[in-house]
Amino acid sequence: MGDRWYSEAVVYCLDVDTYADSDGDGVGDFRGLIGRLDYLARLGVTCLWLNPIHPSPNQDDGYDATDFYNVDPRLGTLGDFAELLHQAQNRGIRVIIDLVVNHTSDQHPWFQSARSSPDSPYRDWYVWADHAPADRHQGMVFPGEQHETWTYDRTAKAWYYHRFYEFQPDLNIENPKVRAEIKKITSFWLQLGVSGFRMDAVPFIIEQTEPGNPNAPKDFDFLTDLRQHVQWRRGDAVLLAEANVEPDQLPVYFGDGSGSGNRIHMLFDFMLNGRLMLALAREDPETIVDALRDTPKLPTGGQWATFLRNHDEIDLSRLTADQRNDVLAKFGPDESMQLYGRGIRRRLAPMLGNDRRHIELAYALQFSLRGTPVLRYGEEIGMGENLALDGRNAIRTPMQWSYKENAGFSTADPEKLIRPVIDQGDFGYQKVNVTAQRGDSKSLLAWFERMIRTLREAPEIGSGSTSHIDVPMPAGVLAHRADGPTGTMVFLHNLGTEDVEVDLSTLAAEADLPIDVLTDRGYGDVGKLDRLKLGGHGYRWIRLCRSTASY
Ligand code: GLC
Repeated sequence: MGDRWYSEAVVYCLDVDTYADSDGDGVGDFRGLIGRLDYLARLGVTCLWLNPIHPSPNQDDGYDATDFYNVDPRLGTLGDFAELLHQAQNRGIRVIIDLVVNHTSDQHPWFQSARSSPDSPYRDWYVWADHAPADRHQGMVFPGEQHETWTYDRTAKAWYYHRFYEFQPDLNIENPKVRAEIKKITSFWLQLGVSGFRMDAVPFIIEQTEPGNPNAPKDFDFLTDLRQHVQWRRGDAVLLAEANVEPDQLPVYFGDGSGSGNRIHMLFDFMLNGRLMLALAREDPETIVDALRDTPKLPTGGQWATFLRNHDEIDLSRLTADQRNDVLAKFGPDESMQLYGRGIRRRLAPMLGNDRRHIELAYALQFSLRGTPVLRYGEEIGMGENLALDGRNAIRTPMQWSYKENAGFSTADPEKLIRPVIDQGDFGYQKVNVTAQRGDSKSLLAWFERMIRTLREAPEIGSGSTSHIDVPMPAGVLAHRADGPTGTMVFLHNLGTEDVEVDLSTLAAEADLPIDVLTDRGYGDVGKLDRLKLGGHGYRWIRLCRSTASY
């Protein structure tokens, strides 16, 4: 294990309210999650990322908080949450929570006070304009559902800024009191025992909004300041940020350029996500090769978080129109599968036609690429989506635990469930559930367990350096390697459907008892690495050499 836990973590993202319901009210809760920690431990997860857990009117699935110092009573009490932290820790599992401080709910007492009077002590906690800002119809995050970024509030008799939905007024980061409060919020949860935060919407948090200026400057110093604070309060705490910006803008999120990583520890690799989707759609690894080559160099301690699916739509906005069309044509051809004109609201298994080989290939690829893998709940059993639900809710259906009614998620009357379980077709819980896969050594779940176990023995992926192996390859095949003091791993992934043979004999001199450690099928001995067979959608993780050195 390297020095920093997050470099070799396996992060599992879940929404407590759709995971496991312990009291039969139709909403998942902390006690339900505690009851599933053994499952997560067996899967090999080392860190949970919980989607927002605060009290909220839930107009944006909790990304609209009304109290940052409490938990949504539907999920349990703060006591239950503390118990969850304890129980997770007993199993070596850390917990990070969403920190959603770009905005609050408009029902938050701060906003209620702010709008009530210009003299409110909270007035300056939000961003106001006296007159309609010229850029009010620019910069919407949810085109189609959101029509402006400034809305007139009749009570306040002023316009307030909201980068997201109109019920999510932006906090005013330029107000020192807001900064102090954000730090206090992090202190509170760190004191309770969380290992860090998934920071929501970071580019917007640090935006120094000015009415009429759609390109407001950003205050990166706040990130330095917050990092200092968080790290002082808990030395091994981590900040994992959502910053979906152009690659050349990313380095300043990690550090101030002095060479030290003094801001965010980990960023989601949105660029890679889009490119992975494109590579899978075109059966051509070229864009992944580009991604490996173009990735900005990170300061020490900086790390990517890789993902295929999360709780939002797959965002294809950074691909060219041609590229985007190819992905949509393959994975989201029906308009009902698309969202905001830029993304796909589906889970991976249905996107890949529920083709087991293809699903394994995609996840083997993600988990072998540089960075820390993040896995969305339900993906490990190949859950599907429900397109009859609105927007992103299509991929936020309850976890499918068993053959029992409500997929074993809850004993409530089905009418009372937070969201309906998927109960029809190939992805219905009758076919896709944990119980069915738990005892089946050939199941997707068993495969994930094995793959994650294999990852544990390959610290080079998380802590080492990853590069493309630039030798002639059959069409569709990506060869890459991860190097570190512990040795070298070599990976072959065939994005195409043809069986091929690969020659990696140029690596033979470095090899020391090379051996397959994870494959989609039995391939026999790796020999001299010159005639490596690889089936259509096949993959081979090969340990080239291993030393007893460590990080
Ligand atoms: C982030 C979240 C998304 C949420 C938005 C507003 O993008 O991932 O789910 O709607 O922020 O908080």
